[in-house]
Amino acid sequence: MKITRTKPVEDVLAQLADDPDAEEGAPGRRLRKRLGPIDLMGFGIGIVIGTGIFTLTGIEAKNHAGPAVTISFVIAGAVSLLAALCYSELASSVPAAGSAYTYAYATIGEVFAWIIGWDLVLEFALGAAVVARGWSGYLQNLFDLPTWAFGEDAPVNIGAVAIVLVLGVIAVVGIRESARVTNVLVVIKVAVCLFVIVAGAFFVKSANLTPFVPQSQPTPDVSGVKQPLGEVLFGIAPSAFGFAGVLTAAAVVFFAYTGFEAVANLGEETREPARDLPLGLLGTLGIATVLYVGVSFVVTGMVRYDKLDEGAPIASAFDAVGAGWASNLVSIAAVAGLTSVILVDIVAMGRIGFAMGRDGLLPQSVAQVHPKFGTPARITAGTTILVAVIAGLVPLTELADLVSIGTLFAFVVVSIAVPVLRRTRPELKRPFRTPWSPVLPIVSALACLYLMTNLAVETWLRFLAWMLLGLLVYGLYGRRHARLAQLPDDD
Ligand code: ALA
Repeated sequence: MKITRTKPVEDVLAQLADDPDAEEGAPGRRLRKRLGPIDLMGFGIGIVIGTGIFTLTGIEAKNHAGPAVTISFVIAGAVSLLAALCYSELASSVPAAGSAYTYAYATIGEVFAWIIGWDLVLEFALGAAVVARGWSGYLQNLFDLPTWAFGEDAPVNIGAVAIVLVLGVIAVVGIRESARVTNVLVVIKVAVCLFVIVAGAFFVKSANLTPFVPQSQPTPDVSGVKQPLGEVLFGIAPSAFGFAGVLTAAAVVFFAYTGFEAVANLGEETREPARDLPLGLLGTLGIATVLYVGVSFVVTGMVRYDKLDEGAPIASAFDAVGAGWASNLVSIAAVAGLTSVILVDIVAMGRIGFAMGRDGLLPQSVAQVHPKFGTPARITAGTTILVAVIAGLVPLTELADLVSIGTLFAFVVVSIAVPVLRRTRPELKRPFRTPWSPVLPIVSALACLYLMTNLAVETWLRFLAWMLLGLLVYGLYGRRHARLAQLPDDD
C-alpha cells in the first residue's frame, strides 16, 4: 500500500458531480449548493475577525512591537495574501470540501493529505475552544457574571461550554441557517471596527505614536522553550521591540488572519465556485487587513503602548480617554464577533472531517450527509462535543500560537501544491491562476516558514506531538481503510 498515492483530480470532481443520492431529502455524500459570494465573505469575516484584533493587539503592542504592531499586522496580512492567491487557484480548480486536505491528496499524496487534514482539525477545533473561552470572559466582563463559571480560573468554564453547544446545534441544523446567523454578527463586527477607527481617531495623540518602533530591549526572563525557534537555532539573545520585535509580533498577530481559508472549504456548497471562491478569499482578507491596520493604529494612538490593557485593549482604550459608553459598545461587539468565529470554526471542522470520512481515512459513517439538514451532521455533532469539553476544561490562551503554527503549516503545503499541480496536471481548467507561479508560491511558502520560526519552541513541540499522534491514527486506520486502498491497482 502506497502512502504517497494521490487521488486523481477527476475523482475529486466526480464526487462533486450530480448523483441521485444527493436529491433533497435523500441521504447522500454530497453537500448542497446554496452559497453566493456575499455569504462566502460573510463566513470569511465571521471566522477571521475575532480574538486576534480584540485582544492580541494590546498584548503584542505592549510586549513586542509598540505602536509598530500596525506594521506587524501589515506583514502578517501580506503573508496571508500570498497564501490566499495560492488557495484561490486550487479552490477554483478543485472546489471540494476539505480544501487544503483535498488539494494535498490530489497533488503530493495521501499521507501528506492526512497530515494536513489532521492539522486543520487542530486549527479549527482549538480555534473554536480558545475563542469560546475568550467569549465567556468578555461576557463576564460585560455583565459582571460570576468568575467561577465564566472566568479563566473556573474549574469548568460553563460559559464556554454553553456557547459551543448552542453554536454546534446551529451548525448541524443547516449551512443556510449558519450563514444567516453569521451575516448578522459580521455586520455588527465590521460596524464596530469602523466605529473604533472613526471615533477613536479623535483621541489619537501623536506623542503616543512616538517612537513608532521602540528601541530593542533584552528580555532575559524569556528563555528556553518560551523563546522563538529562530532565535534558539541561531543563538540570538532574547529581546523585545526593535525590528525583531515587530517580526515576533507579526507571527503572533498572524492568528488574527487565521481562518480565511475556511472559505475555500465551502467550495462544494458554492453556486459558482470558479468566480466566487477567489472573490470570497481575497475579499475577506482585504477587508480584514484594512480594518486591522486601522484599528491597531488608532488604539496605539489613543493610549501609550506600555499602558495598554492586555485583556480588552480596545474597550479599555475608550475608557482611558473618558468615553465609557463607547467601551461598552465595543465589548458588546466583541461578544457578537467572537460568536461568529466559533460558529464558522465548527462548520469548517465538520467539512474537513466529512471530506476525510468520504475518502475512507476516517470511518465512512462520519461522511453521511443528514437527510433533512443537508449537513455532515454526525461529524459536526461529534467534534462539537469534543470542543465543548476542551473549552470547558483547558485554559487555552497560550494555545492560540498552536492554531497559528498549524495554519502556517497548511499554507506551506498549499503554496507548494500550486506549482506541483501545474506540472503534473497542466491541462486542468484553472478559472483563477496564481500570478507569477512558481515564484510567488515559493515566496509564499518561505514567508510562512519564516513566520513559523518566530513562534516559541514549546509551540513547535506541541505541534509535533499532535502530528505524531495523527500519524499513529493514520498508520492504524486510514492507511488500510482509505477508499484508494480498495482500488485494484493499489499495490
Ligand atoms: N482569526 C480569528 C481570531 O482572530 C481566529 O479570533
